[in-house]
Formats: sequence, structure tokens, C-alpha cells
Amino acid sequence: MTAQIKICMGSSCFARGNSKNLQIIQQFLEKNGLEAEVELSGLRCCDNCSKGPNINIDGTEYNNIDSGTLPDILEKHFNLSR
Ligand code: FES
Repeated sequence: MTAQIKICMGSSCFARGNSKNLQIIQQFLEKNGLEAEVELSGLRCCDNCSKGPNINIDGTEYNNIDSGTLPDILEKHFNLSR
């Protein structure tokens, strides 16, 4: 099954953290050998800037994502433990 991660690349989310979050996601997928199973794509501004940075994983929108919370969200979603 292919998972879908959509990351907001609008200027607000991008400037407020999604630039770094994108790198974290890419490193996470690489480290866990998930690149072939996950479709990673960018979104334009989804009109929810005030809650950003925003990332959507398999239909669930996560808000205020930063480098502290993102690894936990990814690990939980993909059932991995450290
Ligand atoms: S830039 Fe992400 S919701 Fe607007």
C-alpha cells in the first residue's frame, strides 16, 4: 500500500518550517527504506496558514509541525519505534 505525504509548500508554511520539515521527511523515508512505499508531494497554500506549517499524511492534516514533533508523527504513522 502506498502512503501519501503532502507537504504545504506555500510561502508561509515553507518559511515557517516546512523547508526543514521536507528534509526531515526525506531523511526519515531514506533511513527506513520507505521511499518506494510513500508518495511525497508538495501542495500550494491550503488557506490554513495560521495553523502552519501544515502536512497531510494519508488524509490527516497535522498543524504547527516542527522538527521536534515531526519525527514522532512519522514514527507513529508508520508504526516504527526508535
Ligand atoms: S502556506 Fe501553508 S496553508 Fe498557507
